[in-house]
Amino acid sequence: MSVTVVIGGQWGDEGKGRIIDLLAEKSHIVARYSAGNNAGHTIINDLGEFKLHLVPAGIFREDKTCLIGNGVVVDPEELLKEIEHLESRGVEVKGRLFLSDRAHVLMPWHRLIDLKDEELRGKGAIGTTGRGVGPAFADKVGRAGIRVADIADREALANMLDFLVPYKNAVLERLYETDGVDGEAVLDEYADYGQRLAPYVADTNVLIHKALEDGDNVLLEGAQGALLDLDLGTYEYVTSSVPSSLAAGAAIGMGIGPTHIDTVLGVYKTYCTRVGNGPFPTELLDETGDMLREGGPRPEYGSTTGRPRRCGWFDAVAARFTAQINGISGAALTRLDVLDQFETIKACTAYRIGSRTLESMPASGLDMARVEPVYTELPGWQSETAGVRRFEDLPEAAQGYVQFIQEKLGVPLCLISVGPEREQAISMRQIG
Ligand code: GDP
Ligand code: IMO
Ligand code: MG
Repeated sequence: MSVTVVIGGQWGDEGKGRIIDLLAEKSHIVARYSAGNNAGHTIINDLGEFKLHLVPAGIFREDKTCLIGNGVVVDPEELLKEIEHLESRGVEVKGRLFLSDRAHVLMPWHRLIDLKDEELRGKGAIGTTGRGVGPAFADKVGRAGIRVADIADREALANMLDFLVPYKNAVLERLYETDGVDGEAVLDEYADYGQRLAPYVADTNVLIHKALEDGDNVLLEGAQGALLDLDLGTYEYVTSSVPSSLAAGAAIGMGIGPTHIDTVLGVYKTYCTRVGNGPFPTELLDETGDMLREGGPRPEYGSTTGRPRRCGWFDAVAARFTAQINGISGAALTRLDVLDQFETIKACTAYRIGSRTLESMPASGLDMARVEPVYTELPGWQSETAGVRRFEDLPEAAQGYVQFIQEKLGVPLCLISVGPEREQAISMRQIG
């Protein structure tokens, strides 16, 4: 038996979905434990390309069970759409996907508040995905949330809405100067979602503990990336998931103890990207940045919003930090093939502010915004890696770059991805 958490080590979109899809082969259960449909995980297989926002990436392997844990915020309309879409493309979901009755439900006011908050922040906007996920987690913490168990029962839902609708309408109308919601319509709509989701709802805590007792392999699918974490990320340009998408959040988000987790796999791109606003020391606003965005298959555009991703060189200061705060025991590197095009490759190994050299990330947002990266330049290889399946067959300079990253992370590399498709990977050592 092993329980492995897969987390993003940068600002999200590291290729977690692609890695989970690969690792799911040896798992019995694949579970999402945090965040909501702000996540967008891409999987490419025989059926084509899929972008999953709520359904775990194990869904394409028909003998696996997928769980959406108590730590996730679920937009029921989006989840139903995702299920329908998967089924329309030949993926069996019913009987394999289970949604925690303790998961929180994203309500219409969350999306409205997300958009209005961004508008009010003006130049300081976070650049959220606009899905309402931040306000939904804020309501969870503020004890004004509705959970899956509540929408399953019309009377319980009506009782909660009796308080919540006037409260939220006061906020929407008086604070945000926008229209409130129609309480009756919300009741009908969400009670209907409750009915339609009923076949998927379960006490996922019972399911996961049964799996642990049976000695099953469990894969816990992180969302976002450690640098977007509310506590340890580049605050306030972070996401609001509670529990956190860090590895430690997996225990709470699935209702297991931290002692159950055996392995933490950190997924890192061979360079950095970020969507949304906020500090990004190695960002390249030049032709090199464009080459990182557009070069290779699957250019860098957000899986959820389609926004162009900001691109820059690998940041070893940030990567080392996220390896530590997640306790990663091994790493997976993705998108090595994108670097095939460069004559030389840079990696940031320290920050500088004036005459001061920093070897760790400063807490202050102002400092983070003004740090200058100190680069090490490494030779490129300028040959195709997409077809390589053994480390020793990589060009020497690619081996050197990969080893450089391994050393900076301070943990062994388990996997190198050289393309977006399932088999385009180099296995380095066993995970878990
Ligand atoms: P996630 O949110 O961490 O699951 O990552 P996304 O799916 O949002 O973004 C990763 C993107 O990179 C997707 O378009 C993947 O298909 C693609 N991808 C993953 N691994 C590789 C790789 O090794 N090479 C290339 N070229 N693309 C990859
Ligand atoms: P995956 O799981 C990349 C970013 C948003 C924004 C900030 C806050 O696909 O890696 P939010 O809507 O969460 O309030 O936005 O967080 N963000 C992500 N960026 N990948 C994600 O998920 C993200 N989820 C949120 O772009 O900067
Ligand atoms: Mg993504």
